[in-house]
Amino acid sequence: MSIQHNKKYKRHTVTAALPYANGPIHVGHLAGVYVPADIYVRYLRLKGEDVIYICGSDEHGVPITIKARQEGVSPQQIVDKYHELIKVSFMEFGISFDVYSRTSDPVHHETAAGVFRTMYEKGAFVEKDSEQYYDEENRQFLADRYITGICPHCSYEKAYGDQCENCGTSLSPTDLINPRSMLSGNKPVLKKTRHWYLPLDEHEPMLRKWILESHKHDWKPNVYGQCKSWIDQGLQPRAVTRDLDWGVKLPLENTEGKVLYVWFDAPIGYISATREWGETHGKDWEKYWKDPESKLVHFIGKDNIVFHCIIFPVMLHAEGSYILPENVPANEFLNLEGDKISTSRNWAVWLHEYLQDFPGKQDVLRYVLCAAAPETKDNYFTLKDFQARNNNELLAIFGNFVNRTLVLTHKYFDGCVPKAGQLMDADREALESLAGFPGIIGKNIEQYRFREALAQMMNLARLGNRYLTEAEPWKVFKENPARVQTVLNTCLQLCAGMALLAEPFLPFTAKKLQAMLNLEARAWDQAGKQELLGPGHRVNKAELLFEKIEDVQIRAQVDKLLETRKNNNQGQSAPPVKPPVSFDAFSAMDIRVATILEAEKVPKTKKLMKIRVDSGLDRRTVVSGIAEYFEPEALVGKKVLLLANLEPRKIKGIESHGMLLMAENNEGALTFVIPEERFENGSPIS
Ligand code: 2FM
Ligand code: ZN
Repeated sequence: MSIQHNKKYKRHTVTAALPYANGPIHVGHLAGVYVPADIYVRYLRLKGEDVIYICGSDEHGVPITIKARQEGVSPQQIVDKYHELIKVSFMEFGISFDVYSRTSDPVHHETAAGVFRTMYEKGAFVEKDSEQYYDEENRQFLADRYITGICPHCSYEKAYGDQCENCGTSLSPTDLINPRSMLSGNKPVLKKTRHWYLPLDEHEPMLRKWILESHKHDWKPNVYGQCKSWIDQGLQPRAVTRDLDWGVKLPLENTEGKVLYVWFDAPIGYISATREWGETHGKDWEKYWKDPESKLVHFIGKDNIVFHCIIFPVMLHAEGSYILPENVPANEFLNLEGDKISTSRNWAVWLHEYLQDFPGKQDVLRYVLCAAAPETKDNYFTLKDFQARNNNELLAIFGNFVNRTLVLTHKYFDGCVPKAGQLMDADREALESLAGFPGIIGKNIEQYRFREALAQMMNLARLGNRYLTEAEPWKVFKENPARVQTVLNTCLQLCAGMALLAEPFLPFTAKKLQAMLNLEARAWDQAGKQELLGPGHRVNKAELLFEKIEDVQIRAQVDKLLETRKNNNQGQSAPPVKPPVSFDAFSAMDIRVATILEAEKVPKTKKLMKIRVDSGLDRRTVVSGIAEYFEPEALVGKKVLLLANLEPRKIKGIESHGMLLMAENNEGALTFVIPEERFENGSPIS
């Protein structure tokens, strides 16, 4: 445990990653960030803590300008459209932000420029001139994403200036072979430009002490591990300005055409949003960011770790008046039906569509996304699982217990809470267990273990079902109505506990249940610690908390996804044929049948796999960009085709001798070209 971990704070500042306003919200966003953060803040509120939950749209950055260009509208029009869509769908889904702001707001521009200015005046930046690609026809410098060319590592022809999406290597634009401007299609020229850099290297001692020493045990291993590897690899100065006309203008003289880098301004968006909230609610927003008695927690996805754990803290530290985050509970990714969620390929369950297709079922999705949250590893969302969890868990366990209790209370006691008589062991055990749940669930939430917290909440309902089934009041009532009074009193206390403890996870259901029980809002710790429903208290008739989700509803969703897949395929035709090659050039290629002997992922890369093959001539190593598509174990023993005389090439320090032939479809899925099993290794292809 870190020293701070058990500290009691005066207030909590909780942020959820600002979504880019260039597309709607999908289940991956929800499971990774917004649902866990919402559970956390709802719990803190029930504990009576002073907490503010901050979010807003991230409206700058190059992808937004690219989308605007593609659609022939202005970037402002793009962000206006998605900001509204995102904001409304979050609200309808019950994500309880205290403020949902946006980074195109003047308050944000002023705040971000102010932070830059203060840092500038303190000498926090290094100014450097460098040569960057410039499009002469459009008379503008080109963002890395606006330059394409051939990847120097894997020869992929559509690599971007910042990354090759084929082999996953980070690139800089000058690494590209035959670079082209995406604006004009012309070859860009190098031109001198000035930028401001944040010398992260100078802050290494602070980061080592703060993260590697103080947070070794309380940060999640995936977060801590990524930070350690960044720091150990040696931090480099990072440019925090860009030549672009969309963003926060640089607040320095003679810097026309320059803006703050989107990753510099976006996290300051949390501060601007808090400021906006303070100004509209008459609150002192600064305490939430500057008082060391405030606990700052950032909820993010794993692709945001370096920005929230290294770059933003360095900015806050260099600015000088801000606190640093106490924790950054980043999640891994959620996949959909065996495939990666992708906004551009429309492979997602979109929140705004879900709200339309499943009206009133916000809690079902919240439940499923929390139960399957990618807390420690990537996880899958499937529509079948969604249906099963609703029908077999929410309905059959939670809903069923509440329903049975209320129906029996009305049947035997006309809807009045009966007075408990002498307690038997089973009653005492049930009530004692109930008393333990607020602590157990709360502790898990405080430690960011939301899946376990949810499982425990459901255990309370399971316990109720078991208790009721074993007590069999329907058999006992005739002979011993007093016993049934005690049993139903106990069941009603359990239901009341559930009505409070379910609130962070299932806020709509909790509210409904509280209304059914005529239960006034209570604090978290009261659940199970005292009798919440006194004798004589009237409860209402049972209403269904959950409805069965039928196969046809699921089939409709699956069809929608299949339609997407079809559309994706239709929209794109096969790539045009390449220019002719001579027969000699073709015969110069030596392609052989080979067998995969071993395969392993190349550490610290997303896409690369190191593969050992038997080529019939020798045993050799090939590095291939397929790690995202195959599990290494699944490859061993596969017969494949190998281009055996490709020049050896070093990829991530590993010498690769050849290339395995693959087919790629319109969606970018890959498959090996597989020869018949009876062709032995070394057989030539001609
Ligand atoms: O990855 C993203 O979606 C970013 N828009 C997150 C920004 S978080 C914060 F820094 F604003
Ligand atoms: Zn590449």
